[in-house]
Amino acid sequence: MNDTILCPKYPHFLHGGDYNPDQWLDRPDILEKDIQLMKEAHVNCVSVGIFAWAHLEPQEGVYEFDWLEQIINNLYENGIYTVLATPSGAKPVWMSEKYPEIRRVNSSLHRELSGERHNHCYTSPIYREKVREMNTRLAERFSRHPGVILWHISNEYGGECYCPLCQEAFREWLKEKYGTLEALNHAWWAHFWSHTYTDWSQIHAPVPSGEMSVHGLIVDWKRFVTARTVDFMREEIKAVKSVNPEIPVTANLMSFYDGLDYFKFGPALDVVSWDSYPLWHNADTIQEAARVACCHDLMRSVKHQPFLLMESTPSMTNWQPVSKLKRPGMHELSSLQAVAHGSQSVQYFQWRKSRGSFEKFHGAVVDHYGGSDTRVFRDVASVGKRLENLEAAVLPTRVQPEVAIVYDWENRWAVEDAKGPRNGGLHYVETVQAHHRAFWKNGVPVDFVDMDGDLSGYKVVVTPMLYMYRNGFAKKLRDFVEQGGTLVSTYWSGIVDDTDLCFLGGWPGDGMMDVFGIWNEEIDALYDGETNAMELREPVDGLRESYSLRELCEIIHLRGAKALAAYGQDFYAGSPVLTENQFGKGTAYYIAARAEDGFQEDFYRMLVKKLGIRRALDTVLPEGVTASLRKGEQDVVFVQNFTAAPQTVRLPHAMKDVESGETLSGDLTLAPWEIRTLLEQ
Ligand code: GLA
Ligand code: ZN
Repeated sequence: MNDTILCPKYPHFLHGGDYNPDQWLDRPDILEKDIQLMKEAHVNCVSVGIFAWAHLEPQEGVYEFDWLEQIINNLYENGIYTVLATPSGAKPVWMSEKYPEIRRVNSSLHRELSGERHNHCYTSPIYREKVREMNTRLAERFSRHPGVILWHISNEYGGECYCPLCQEAFREWLKEKYGTLEALNHAWWAHFWSHTYTDWSQIHAPVPSGEMSVHGLIVDWKRFVTARTVDFMREEIKAVKSVNPEIPVTANLMSFYDGLDYFKFGPALDVVSWDSYPLWHNADTIQEAARVACCHDLMRSVKHQPFLLMESTPSMTNWQPVSKLKRPGMHELSSLQAVAHGSQSVQYFQWRKSRGSFEKFHGAVVDHYGGSDTRVFRDVASVGKRLENLEAAVLPTRVQPEVAIVYDWENRWAVEDAKGPRNGGLHYVETVQAHHRAFWKNGVPVDFVDMDGDLSGYKVVVTPMLYMYRNGFAKKLRDFVEQGGTLVSTYWSGIVDDTDLCFLGGWPGDGMMDVFGIWNEEIDALYDGETNAMELREPVDGLRESYSLRELCEIIHLRGAKALAAYGQDFYAGSPVLTENQFGKGTAYYIAARAEDGFQEDFYRMLVKKLGIRRALDTVLPEGVTASLRKGEQDVVFVQNFTAAPQTVRLPHAMKDVESGETLSGDLTLAPWEIRTLLEQ
């Protein structure tokens, strides 16, 4: 069993959040009150210094760390630990004015003015040097402080820079990758429209006023942006680790954020953390709960170890179209949902509301009012208390799924840019989430892997819309099935290779036609609102006779597979839409069209039963109720009610409530938005 404790210096659940004392240095009374309130709120850990550069280095070369030391000391003396940030997420104005090169050039090729945040150039040698100097000094001063348990490297890395330095770095990266222009021109199919490159200097990042038609260029640019960002982050990490390698590092990620391939961040980080801002109580909170569960699973999967929930709002945000308050119960439910999926923390943005500027109305533990007698404060304190009660039973347990879904950022970039059957919406991410949701509804734990990932430990691997088979991946899939695994794939899979060149000789390409026992000849795109139907050829246990299809319908031919269902309509009515093929010791299923959610739910329920895959709770789960499983010497099951009504589940056997110690059996009724933790006994 993987028994990773993320912060060995403080091996507990973390509860706290972003703390910006730098905004209140002229108010010692408030800083004093903060400590008292943190204790009251059961806060044991705060993230400090995230955007504090202007206070840490008010003038070039003048470093002022005394105030920070006082804060960290004071916190520590009161039992509160510090996650210390490197401040690179926002550069001080004096610096961006003096050194224009650290400011980004945007995709209109204009250099930005000073201001905002998360907008530095990742290549600028000046910014890299300034950050190295700052990080080194912070590490020298604080990394051996007994209260400092983790580095929070920068904040929400993201975005792109099109400055000459970045363009040159891109060309160097391409030279390294392809060696010759001939190889690059071939890999990008650049002879198309005479876009052949005859000198490296002719290559520019894709921008709307330039080249946006060479798909290989676009995918490679996005790969480069990730590589550049990771390289920048590695330099930040090197600076703090070279002073003291003992303190682990994290960076706060943004789950399905499009711009960066987070799987490439995994090896550079000790700990993955992320920032979660759901739209609770929207038109479909159950769908939202499933989406958030999916985000937690993705973030856990970046390192396949526990993660930290680094930010969440204690009440509302101030940037969503509608910033609704959490209904009573929702704060505990959504906080512990993260723990159910493998988090070792519940952290908030933010501890205290700032008084002015952009985030003055963003939810915080402490409101402008300033007291602890608020609904939000009570909710936070009660999460803190629950974490303390759960720790002994839950902290040693791990999420260990038997099912993996392949989600791959490079595939996403390629599929969304494909210029193919449905530019009006291919919905790759939504499709990945829909397959995940079906398992979530059945209470089956799920991991994610990308195409570099290891499939060998799973019983089922699902590859929704895997348009691109990166180098070597088809072989990995093939081996997985041959050795006894169950593979489920969908339409629009195995179409192009690593640089977005179509596979010749039939799809799913790269030798996968025989694994699926099919050949995909054509793909039909449906207009919004149009449907077809999937009709079972013969009854399959747990499946309905018919399901609705939409958006994409492939016309496939059997090459050894068995058809389980056929199209109900159109000129391809009667041709196969769901197939099953024995290959080696395993089975490969192919779903040739986009099906309604009900199909995935029934299909995976059938598969889970057939393959003996463990559900968190082997019982009927009402709509909106799910269960998550953390395994350990004693397994813990989290039963969650994402509805505004009480819900009852029948426990399959007697279980112990972790928090009350009570033994439960028979019917368990959950209040609206309630989460319960049960021990297998
Ligand atoms: C992000 C940032 C925080 C804060 C929150 C507000 O996650 O990391 O600094 O701006 O959003 O929701
Ligand atoms: Zn740049």
